[in-house]
Amino acid sequence: MADATPATARGVASLVDGVRTSDGAGVRLTRVLGQTLQRRLDPFLMLDVFGSDDPDDYIAGFPDHPHRGFETVTYMLAGRMRHRDSAGNEGLLETGGMQWMTAGRGVIHSEIPQQRDGRMEGFQLWLNLPAADKLCTPWYRDFAADALPRLRTAHGAHAVVLAGDSHGVRGAVTREATAPLILDLRLDPGGHFEQPLPAAHNALLYVIDGAVAIGGRAVAQRRMAVLDNQSDALRIEAADGARVLLVAGRPLREPIAQYGPFVMNSEQQVYQAVQDYRAGRLA
Ligand code: FE2
Repeated sequence: MADATPATARGVASLVDGVRTSDGAGVRLTRVLGQTLQRRLDPFLMLDVFGSDDPDDYIAGFPDHPHRGFETVTYMLAGRMRHRDSAGNEGLLETGGMQWMTAGRGVIHSEIPQQRDGRMEGFQLWLNLPAADKLCTPWYRDFAADALPRLRTAHGAHAVVLAGDSHGVRGAVTREATAPLILDLRLDPGGHFEQPLPAAHNALLYVIDGAVAIGGRAVAQRRMAVLDNQSDALRIEAADGARVLLVAGRPLREPIAQYGPFVMNSEQQVYQAVQDYRAGRLA
């Protein structure tokens, strides 16, 4: 019999289906974290989920477009995508790989599928930068699947540690201000996963496969759960096994001003970003 869930563990605050939309040159995706949840899930600004076997849903990719003021994290569950940017970085993102790009003061990049058929599936997460770092020098790194740190617990949990620290394993990327924790977590049937997490840190979980229970509440496949902030403890259970993306971080509590791919602290700064882009000064 499974242990009783500690009364002090975090629960589910709300369940989110997301909004079907398209972005780039017509890539079909589901936006599970959009502008309405930016304050609630601070420091995360956006989470897009894409997944299709139909090339018409992804083949056009994301031609050249700008970003300023935040970081993008792209994680591929399946497929191949080539990244090129104005800072001279180029990378091929393949199944199981992650790309981390700090747009800082400005980057213009493209993300183009390198396949004509087959499955393309993954996530793009936007992580905000503190006001003091919004105009920092752009940074880019990609990690192939076998370069990403992994952990395994005695309770049937296996995780790829994309960011942050978990069970003594340091993730591929760490950030001091926002302390992002990003895990691709697999649970064996009957397994569970526990993670200390400061109550003030906002957290979400997206179920890729199977189903999980948090504080006794079920979260079904392709649902996002926004977790409450009632406890420093998190416990995820999976009676029949599951795969989830777990994302948590320390809120910045700074003003958010977004216009498309520019996320700053004031309308004036966003206006400046648009002016810089139009004048060819962004990147
Ligand atoms: Fe982009």
